[in-house]
Amino acid sequence: MTATTAVRQLWIHSFRPGQGLRPEAVAHSLTPTGFVGRALRLEDRQGPGIIIVPEISQAICEFVRTVSGNGARRVLAILEGEAPSASQGAWEVLQAGASDVLIWNELSDPGNAISARFRRWQEVDELVESPLVVKNLVGGSPAWKSVVRRVVEVARFTDSPVLLIGETGTGKELLARLIHTLDEKRNQRSLVVLDCSTIVPELSGSELFGHERGAFTGAVAARDGAFALADGGTLFLDEVGELPLGLQTQLLRALQEHTYKRVGSNSWRRTDFRLICATNRDLPMEEARGHFRRDLYYRVAAWTIRLPSLRKRAEDIIPLVRHFMRLSGMADAPPELEAAVKTYFVTRDYPGNVRDLQNLVHRIMTSYVGVGPITLGNVPPDERPEANHTAQDWFDPASEQAIRQAVALGVGLREIRRAVEAAAIRIAIEGENGNLKRAAHKLGVTDRALQKRKAGQYQREEGSATPSSNCKVEVLEACR
Ligand SMILES: Nc1ncnc2c1ncn2[C@@H]1O[C@H](COP(=O)(O)OP(=O)(O)OP(=O)(O)O)[C@@H](O)[C@H]1O
Ligand SMILES: [Mg+2]
Repeated sequence: MTATTAVRQLWIHSFRPGQGLRPEAVAHSLTPTGFVGRALRLEDRQGPGIIIVPEISQAICEFVRTVSGNGARRVLAILEGEAPSASQGAWEVLQAGASDVLIWNELSDPGNAISARFRRWQEVDELVESPLVVKNLVGGSPAWKSVVRRVVEVARFTDSPVLLIGETGTGKELLARLIHTLDEKRNQRSLVVLDCSTIVPELSGSELFGHERGAFTGAVAARDGAFALADGGTLFLDEVGELPLGLQTQLLRALQEHTYKRVGSNSWRRTDFRLICATNRDLPMEEARGHFRRDLYYRVAAWTIRLPSLRKRAEDIIPLVRHFMRLSGMADAPPELEAAVKTYFVTRDYPGNVRDLQNLVHRIMTSYVGVGPITLGNVPPDERPEANHTAQDWFDPASEQAIRQAVALGVGLREIRRAVEAAAIRIAIEGENGNLKRAAHKLGVTDRALQKRKAGQYQREEGSATPSSNCKVEVLEACR
């Protein structure tokens, strides 16, 4: 079913039922766009939806975090008030998982403004869930999903240059290939990869621009360079942060004007390609320090996408392990993992990110005997942790960094404790697909204690009842 024919329902939730902007008015505005309203019960409120809020508060952010599953499901926030006061806190609600924030009074045509967004999101999400993406790019964590969404949207709906920044092994090349494949204008032609860390300056002219016959000793025939080969397709400049300044100057004209001269030729040639660059350096920082030309930086970084390290998406580790076990071809179906092996995978450090994990799985699979689960004995001896490795090791430099930031911002101890507890509860509940009993067990508390703590979070934040108690739900439906 395509995005233009699919029938979609949107729930609408007002934080002030009976007051201010009414859900019926929002539903009504959507009618001319082809949306059809139908009432939804509270428990059916799983798909995309709209919340109407007077202003952004902590409780509303927490609500958005829950109903959007940290941004996994599309939620549009509509503010009733007047800009600019209404838009205060808009960044926070986006951070909490809202896909966009609209100020109702600023909209000349609210129905079209809302429906166009949901249509676009639906198209993007269908691609994100398509076999092409799901089979090749493993990961359901909010951090990874949000990167894949941006990549898909940029690839399909723009022709702009994309800059991918991420530590080694985070999947930059994989995403560059995906952008090329999804780009309908380019994917019939080549994806040309140029590794900027291996370009020899003396030969760079020929590699980049090609040469004429006899242009230099040994040039026995004319040859195309990367810019010509990429014509009509995609040029992927890998490790772009390694480009020497001299070469950056040479590249600028070709990237800016899409014209170049072969070595030994005086005539300009045209080329037309999509540009993708990748680096594990902090390129904005390199630019600020003068190590990367500013004009070139703004040319390559029309869209900058930062890939998360594996430690920022630990929930993706086990699905990636299964994926790599399947790819290893050493077992018909991925074997089960003993609980201790799962813990080992999740708590290990991965300086080489996904590539590191991939190598580890490969080594483990070589010693797998083909029957029963993977056990600790399958972990190669040089990979085994020190005997005194304890559960305390989870408190790594990244956790300390977050707390450092909070202390520097003057956040009090009580608030830090509350935030850490709220995050642990949310992560445990998500990890158990909403099952409070299992989440409580995981956290070592009773389910009653967990429920009380969860309810307490909402009450502390707003002095309000839990969000579901004042929920008013209606519907719409999408797409002609
Ligand atoms: N989300 C993912 N799902 C499946 N495989 C992945 C994923 N991310 C990375 N990989 C795999 O991990 C390996 C490293 O990925 P890739 O080469 O794209 O990383 P990179 O960021 O370009 O690394 P480097 O900076 O070292 O060049 C590849 O084999 C890739 O297929
Ligand atoms: Mg790479």
